[in-house]
Amino acid sequence: MHPCTPCAAAVWGAGDAPSPPGRGRVRRAPSVAPETVGRGGGTARGASAGRPVTAYATLTVDVEKIAANARAVVGTLVGIEVVAVTKCTCGAPEVGRALLAGGAVALGESRHENAERLRGAGIEAPLWLLRAPAPERAAETVHLFEVSLASELETCTALDAAAAALGRRHQILVMVDLGDLREGLMPGDLPAFVDAVEALEHVELAGVGVNLTCYGAIMPDERNMTELVELARATEARVGRRLAVGGGNSGSIGMIASGRMPAGVTTLRVGETILHGVDTLTREPVAGLHTDVFEVGAPVIECKVKPSLPRGEVAQDAYGNRPTFEDRGARRRAILALGRQDVMPEWLTPLDEGVEILGASSDHLIVDVEAMPAAPRLGQALRFRPSYAATVQLSTSPYVHKVFTPPA
Ligand SMILES: Cc1ncc(COP(=O)(O)O)c(C=O)c1O
Repeated sequence: MHPCTPCAAAVWGAGDAPSPPGRGRVRRAPSVAPETVGRGGGTARGASAGRPVTAYATLTVDVEKIAANARAVVGTLVGIEVVAVTKCTCGAPEVGRALLAGGAVALGESRHENAERLRGAGIEAPLWLLRAPAPERAAETVHLFEVSLASELETCTALDAAAAALGRRHQILVMVDLGDLREGLMPGDLPAFVDAVEALEHVELAGVGVNLTCYGAIMPDERNMTELVELARATEARVGRRLAVGGGNSGSIGMIASGRMPAGVTTLRVGETILHGVDTLTREPVAGLHTDVFEVGAPVIECKVKPSLPRGEVAQDAYGNRPTFEDRGARRRAILALGRQDVMPEWLTPLDEGVEILGASSDHLIVDVEAMPAAPRLGQALRFRPSYAATVQLSTSPYVHKVFTPPA
């Protein structure tokens, strides 16, 4: 059975053991970092009882597993070029290098700042800009990216002028909206758009693409993928050359792996399935892929036995909600140095036995630890598996340390 075949339920869920925290090196958080970040916080093994301790919330990224996942996905997508998407990690160069080592032909980013980080680290592979720029960012776009996704002529004209000024050519993948209702031209508008882009000297129409599942949660299927290929074929006839056909993102892997994808798709832009090892249509693990690439640890800053019901009159919590509580009697609970400013607690899964997330305010994650085999000590790191959405947030938070295992 193909490793990425979504119907391979029997072989799915072959989960991996959690990564040991504290391997690798600490990198300063991507943007503004507090004074303390970079002092070598991260996680480390506690001196007593072998418990991990940490001074700071720390996101651990296993880049060897990313390279292995990339290799497996690229191996699955025979004849298709994979543009691997780094935006979940804010363009971490360690991750970019692992994706390229795993066989990606280019990296995809949605933010110029992340592309700058990749370029600044010496990555020379082609970069694709996945979110169309505002026309005012055309020069930056041409400077940083070889390819950008496009659906507005005004932006293409700005890219053309910027490319002329820089003495470069810039490629675009024109996006069509096939139902997900995010970016893209309505299909009927494609021919006129193509004619206008063809008239530009420094912008080259490289292909036709679609994005699905991100906003409207629309699945790729035989109908919309056939429509895409037909639109691309009609565009090729119009411009008189072969074009790339961008068949979407991780959500399209299953169709290809199971042989249901109509012939003609040449490229996929893949983020989550490589980085998190899941099928994005179901969030089920994909057999053969690591699902434990990312782990976040946060230190205990308070641990006490308290009643499970708040005392006093209930108003609103820090986020404007009126919370409800179940009376479970007195229980041991811990507060961790991680909060909604860093990550939504709903998107974390505890990895330590007997830990249950109760909730969080901006800076405090509150967990029930009554069922832990031993009460956690102050500074002990409790560990969680973040979802893709949680990883985006954690990567973005300057308060969360990042630890990358050595590149493969
Ligand atoms: C245009 C575009 N293509 C591809 C991707 C990658 O999506 P996924 O992570 O589901 O593979 C994204 C989102 O990151 C995107 O916005």
